[in-house]
Formats: sequence, C-alpha cells, structure tokens
Amino acid sequence: MKKESQEEKLYICKPCGYVMKESELGEVCPACGLPKKVFEQYKERMSSGRSKILHLDMHPIAVHFPQTLLVFILQALIINLIFPNFFPEVLLGAARFAGAIFPFTVVAAFISGLIDGKLRFKSVTTPILKKKIIYSVIMTIAALFTPFLIWNDIDNLTSKISLLICGSIALFCGIVLGHAGKRLMNIGMGGAVKIWGRKF
Ligand code: HEM
Repeated sequence: MKKESQEEKLYICKPCGYVMKESELGEVCPACGLPKKVFEQYKERMSSGRSKILHLDMHPIAVHFPQTLLVFILQALIINLIFPNFFPEVLLGAARFAGAIFPFTVVAAFISGLIDGKLRFKSVTTPILKKKIIYSVIMTIAALFTPFLIWNDIDNLTSKISLLICGSIALFCGIVLGHAGKRLMNIGMGGAVKIWGRKF
C-alpha cells in the first residue's frame, strides 16, 4: 500500500511551483489559487534515498536552536544593561546556560548544512554554498568566544560589551545565512514546495 502511494503521480502548478499528489488535485492551486489548467505532471529529479534524507529537514530544524539561543542571550544582556536591577540573577543565569550550549548548536547547524548542501546540490563548492561556509565559520568562531565571555566575568561592563559585540557578529552571520538558505529551500527539487517536511 505504501509503495502504491509513493508511486502516485505528482502534479506541479507551473506558475508558482507548488507540487501536489494526483489525489489532492482540486479545481484551483492550493497555494496561488490559479485554475487547474495550469497544472502539469511533475517528475521527481532526485533519487529517493537522497530525497528521503532531505525530507527529514535536519538543517532547517537544526538552525532554529542557535538562532533562538542567540536572540535570548542578546535580549537578556540588553535588558540587564538598561535595567541592571531587573532580576539580574535570573537573566544572567539563564544567559550563562544558553551561552554554554550555544556553540554546540552552531556546530550542529553547520554540519547539518554541509550534509543538506551535499545531498541537494552534490557539491558544497557552489558560489552560494561557499558564501554560507564562510559565514558559518565566522559564526562558529563568534560562538566559541561566547561561553568564555559569559562565564569569565559577566558582571563586568567590559565583558558585557564584548559579549554584545560578539553576539551581534554571530547574529549578523545568522541573518545572512538564513537569507541565503531561504533562497535555496525550494530549488534543487524541481521547484517543489515543501510543507511540514513533505513535498506535495
Ligand atoms: C551555522 C550555520 C548555518 C545557519 C545558521 C544556516 C541557516 C539556514 C536557514 C535559516 C535556512 C533556511 C531554513 C528555513 O527557512 O527553514 C537554511 C537553509 C539551507 N542551508 Fe543553511 N545555515 C548554516 C550553514 C549552512 C552550510 C554550511 C550549508 C552548506 C554549505 C548550508 C546549506 C543550506 C541549504 C542547502 C539550505 C536549504 C535547505 C533545505 O531546503 O533543506 N547551510 N540555512
């Protein structure tokens, strides 16, 4: 039964690139609303092994951890700098914890990105992926400094400013990486739109 559904024909909405199963075809494209006359049959261009691993969405999931931690660390720091008496132990304590695990999450995002890029494009030396590697290295270096700055003497103003600079560099790299990544999301799979890890 499972095999049958895997072999179900796929259709693509040519103008917007949304891909759906034959059984899901309606009168209009669920994504852009154009009538079904614009649909045409869609053929998977990737081997099912590669496609299965990519559909685990390891990288798109992994990147959320460093981004969330970083935003939290910076927020806690800025609040503490502006309002030093507002729950300093809680804010700086939580920032300490987040700072200690932050580098691991950046490394995990980096590695999952390399795997994702290799599977999707067969090479990680294309111009955009090279750019992503460079920014990932800078982000990793900034992330490695973070725990030292946080754990050494977070109550000291110089440490707080250094941490703010370091975190801002990591945040800038994260934004550049996210922008570049977003543009890579729907290519290499024939323009298919993915929802919740499934390609329709
Ligand atoms: C810490 C490092 C990295 C961060 C923070 C990051 C961030 C992101 C983000 C935010 C996305 C879009 C995900 C979404 O919108 O759900 C993305 C996608 C992507 N990134 Fe990265 N990235 C990193 C490293 C890398 C590296 C080193 C490569 C490969 C050389 C890479 C290749 C890709 C690819 C191929 C996509 C498209 C993913 C897909 O469609 O499954 N990334 N990245």
